Amino acid sequence: MYKIAVIPGDGTGPEVVNEGLKVLAVAAKKFGFQYETKSFDFSGQRYLKTGKLVDDADIAELKKYSAIYLGAVGDPEVKPGVIETGVLLKLRFALDQYINLRPVKLYNANFCPLKDKKPEDIDFVVVRENSEGLYKGMGEFQNKNTKNEVAIQISYNTRQGVERCIRYAFEFTRKRNKRKKLTLCGKTNVLTFAWDLWQRTFNEVAKEYPDVATDYAHVDATTMWFVKNPEWFDVIVTDNMFGDIITDLGAMIQGGMGIAAGGNINPQGVSMFEPIGGRAPKYTGKNIINPLAAICAVGMMLENLGEEKAGKAIEQAVIKLVAKDIKSLAAGKMGYSTTEVGDLIVKSI
Ligand code: IPM
Ligand code: MN
Repeated sequence: MYKIAVIPGDGTGPEVVNEGLKVLAVAAKKFGFQYETKSFDFSGQRYLKTGKLVDDADIAELKKYSAIYLGAVGDPEVKPGVIETGVLLKLRFALDQYINLRPVKLYNANFCPLKDKKPEDIDFVVVRENSEGLYKGMGEFQNKNTKNEVAIQISYNTRQGVERCIRYAFEFTRKRNKRKKLTLCGKTNVLTFAWDLWQRTFNEVAKEYPDVATDYAHVDATTMWFVKNPEWFDVIVTDNMFGDIITDLGAMIQGGMGIAAGGNINPQGVSMFEPIGGRAPKYTGKNIINPLAAICAVGMMLENLGEEKAGKAIEQAVIKLVAKDIKSLAAGKMGYSTTEVGDLIVKSI
């Protein structure tokens, strides 16, 4: 019996999570697993009403679950950073979800903004470190609000943190068993402390994986290759900040935020799965947002729980729909409503 904690959140979060839960229900029936869900109201809306974010008691409670399924959190009324650090990053850090796994896969060439790229050209996975780097929130102001103000933001990288991420990436590349190539994406030529540690650790761990080919690309060059030669990539491992940036570009070349899902993974603990597109305030409440990213997140969650057949079946259903029926992956242009897309996937499964 899987216990799934559901965090619908703000904006279009609840709408897309609804569709994901419909798909979860049919997958359970078809593949014969059992689960229960409990909804948690961690959101910008709740913060505005109660001042509450995610506290240590909430974390203790969430540790009892098999996985977390998140829609989106945030609110324009709240100062930037409050909900992000108090909810999303709090969950990632306190649950030690040290991997952010973001598959970039094109399902239909018509939805790719790049000329002449086909589904076989865009099929890679970004392994983003999810617990350290610039996201650690270390730094300070000096002489704040004076002409001599200095703002310092530190990228914090530990050998253990870097090594567990790199190790995960090598294991993942081996298990994925496609081109068996792992690219380290960094900035060794300028950020000479952080990326020296990353490069040294990468080289050392690589010795234990002679079957995995290795490569290195600077982050700026990586963005260029994503556009020019995305077919070069199999698995990419990078730090938190670079991973954040390159996976938005990755989402665009796979057809947009409507299809991009991610997993915040603690291989030994509770992992959290989410569509990466955010809460899309423009589309909230209109039944026009694309729920496929949230549905793909359910597929990732099931694969991670060991229900690989169910996960694959969800992906196949998405591929089938995206390959022909759907007009566009953009909100309001799909040719179907949010709920209709969910129903089509359910029917297909
Ligand atoms: C993401 C998001 C978050 C991040 C924000 C909302 C804090 O952009 O999941 O990529 O920067 O990690
Ligand atoms: Mn991001």
